[in-house]
Amino acid sequence: MAILPPPTPFNRIRLAASLMTVLIPGAVSQPAGFNYDESAVPAYALPDPLVNLVGDPVNTAEQWTGQRRSEVLGLFAEHVYGHTPPGAVDVHHELTESNDHVFDGRARRQQVRLHFRANGHEIAADLLIYLPRTATGPVPLFLGLNFFGNHTITTDPEVHLNQNWMRSNPEIGVVDHRATADSRGAYARRWPVELILQRGYGLATLYSGDIDPDVDDGFQNGVHPLFYANGQTQPAANEWGTLAAWAWGLSRSLDYLETDNTIDASRVAVLGHSRLGKAALWAGARDERFALVISNNSGCGGAALSRRRFGETIERINTSFPHWFCGGHQRYNGREDDLPIDQHMLLALMAPRPVYVASAVEDLWADPRGEFLAARHAEPVYALLGRSGLGIENFPPVNQPVGDTIGYHVRTGKHDVTIYDWQRYLDFADRHFTARN
Ligand code: GCU
Repeated sequence: MAILPPPTPFNRIRLAASLMTVLIPGAVSQPAGFNYDESAVPAYALPDPLVNLVGDPVNTAEQWTGQRRSEVLGLFAEHVYGHTPPGAVDVHHELTESNDHVFDGRARRQQVRLHFRANGHEIAADLLIYLPRTATGPVPLFLGLNFFGNHTITTDPEVHLNQNWMRSNPEIGVVDHRATADSRGAYARRWPVELILQRGYGLATLYSGDIDPDVDDGFQNGVHPLFYANGQTQPAANEWGTLAAWAWGLSRSLDYLETDNTIDASRVAVLGHSRLGKAALWAGARDERFALVISNNSGCGGAALSRRRFGETIERINTSFPHWFCGGHQRYNGREDDLPIDQHMLLALMAPRPVYVASAVEDLWADPRGEFLAARHAEPVYALLGRSGLGIENFPPVNQPVGDTIGYHVRTGKHDVTIYDWQRYLDFADRHFTARN
């Protein structure tokens, strides 16, 4: 069973106090005391993805694929997200519910419980899958984590109400760290299930907190204890934090999707919003089975360049969310220039696979321009692998999607996932998935 963080009065006070600032997705605007002025961005030099650790240039696709790529991946593991322990866990898939006639017969629904066991610990994650019913062959699919349980992404009343700990959010019916029936469909506007199905795609989602609750509890719950060595009580300074655990959960979900022959597991797009966008990027970097990767407003520690210190900074993110990255990432608080990588190199790890980065003009905390620049500076790696990337030098106008194998848009509005974003992702997936077949 998952061990839950104790609902101590201290936790409650701390969470309540921060409720309107950093903890609730969507409630964030622009905390004071950070830079939102382009002219105040400090001068910085980005590390070159195409120069290896001993200082030699990387001139061929073989050198990137055979050596430099794993070097860059290793740097992100060591200094940012933490290494994912190599050990195996015992996995068991249980179909808990299915229905071949949902949404007036237009879709099939499956709810699958993924059980993970090791070291005397056990956790379970519920994967909710919708597939278009009229499909004539295996369907491509979007996979993403959600913030408050599968039942929040749809008004479909048959979706299991999540029972696990989650951040309280009374406005959407999450009270005392538990979802109530009032939270059904609370985030349906962010997940246009019927549109996705109509366009010929499946959708799979799971609650991030099933893999690891989003709280700084010393890693006593969630997946981490399943991997502890004898006597170990928390991850070492270079071992995984919560974002990497979520990325692990996405890969384990893909393992399951591979077992269903009505799904085309070679055409799975992994996506995520905000903190879950950071996790989607790390999942896409580590697991090359993901055919397409989408970052929605992922910001600091996601698609945005850290060295710009625009909006959220490394120090701030490590202070508000000390559990997200590896312990060693704290070394870079206020010392962005010492990092051996920057986030353009994370995007480069997706190459030659298509990657899409989406920003929102009002979401200055996530640094839209920094997200664009990371996409742009990932381009040399795509070029080396024979793919055209963004194809533009300057920040594009609002609501104008750009790019080829690297896609980008900045839309009007706030930190959120909108229909406009989804339409672009569906178009991008159509273009790349169809082109391949
Ligand atoms: C906070 C955090 C961001 C994160 C966001 C979210 O604003 O500072 O890094 O992306 O929450 O996940 O909604």
